[in-house]
Amino acid sequence: NGTLGEVWDDEMSSTMLGKRLRKVVQNYQAMNKYGVQFADVGAGARHPKRSGPELLCQMKDSVSITTLTQEMEPFAHFPWATLLPPRPLNMDIGAFKTCAVVSSAGSMKNSGLGKEIDAHDAVVRFNAAPTTGFEKDVGSKTTIRLINSQVMAPEDHRFLSSSLYSTGILVGWDPAPYSSDLSEWYNKTDYPIFLQYQRYRRLHPQQPFYILHPRVEWQLWNQIQENMAEPIQKNPPSSGLLGTVLMMSLCEVVHVYEFLPSRRKTELCHYYQRFVDAACTLGAYHPLLYEKNLVKRMNQGLDRDIYTHGRVTLPGFSTLNC
Ligand code: C5P
Repeated sequence: NGTLGEVWDDEMSSTMLGKRLRKVVQNYQAMNKYGVQFADVGAGARHPKRSGPELLCQMKDSVSITTLTQEMEPFAHFPWATLLPPRPLNMDIGAFKTCAVVSSAGSMKNSGLGKEIDAHDAVVRFNAAPTTGFEKDVGSKTTIRLINSQVMAPEDHRFLSSSLYSTGILVGWDPAPYSSDLSEWYNKTDYPIFLQYQRYRRLHPQQPFYILHPRVEWQLWNQIQENMAEPIQKNPPSSGLLGTVLMMSLCEVVHVYEFLPSRRKTELCHYYQRFVDAACTLGAYHPLLYEKNLVKRMNQGLDRDIYTHGRVTLPGFSTLNC
């Protein structure tokens, strides 16, 4: 009937979650596996809420997208250092005009967004999200695949063998200590990302494969916490937000699909699996609820585009006049 349904409320709080999920979030707020130290947890409640343009400039200033290179310590001293790229990602690719970020949410299903997504100059996908068999809804182009270290874990044999990972540029990441000290992280990764990186590079020497500097995770985390009125989970942001900010550093315009749920909103976790869990959309381990609040506040598109297409429009950092 033409009336606009509800879209993401940018002041979502854990109090709006169901009992079970609220408990999980509270546990992660209390747990501090990565040694997060943040002085001003209440900051977001005190200063007036920042506008979209203010948040975009704050992000451009405080988050610098970097990837590991051969000459960084401690890697420079390792015999396998030459497997790492000689230059950071942003010196090898981009700048793109238009980019699409495709979340893996269940609400991508039956979206019919495939053509629109493929019309972008670059497309980023996440973890094990396939295109084969889902082209109509998610498209078929993959420029970058951002993968977390859990996906790369040796117990899951698919990472080294599946063709899923063999197209596009790979970018891996792993939750690191809050210090972002590379040596400390190297000895304390969540999953053996460096071992699997070496194996993969030897099997696929021609495919570009970068590793995100762990600083990025925590710079972004700081910005989320700084703008929220309550304590957020002391864990790194989700792949979805990391990929969004990565593309903001490489593109002039970024469209993010089904990160903020459309009218197709569902508890189906991924468009490619049968698993159902509201935590996939609302967050448990990751501060996903607050990531979405931030993205909603930065959105330059219409609420209607969120409602019908699950589409958010963000400007690339290079286009901002801060
Ligand atoms: O689950 P996975 O991390 O592989 O999904 C990729 C990204 O898509 C997530 O990190 C999250 O940002 C986003 N996502 C979402 N809602 C879902 C599933 C995924 O926002 N139901």
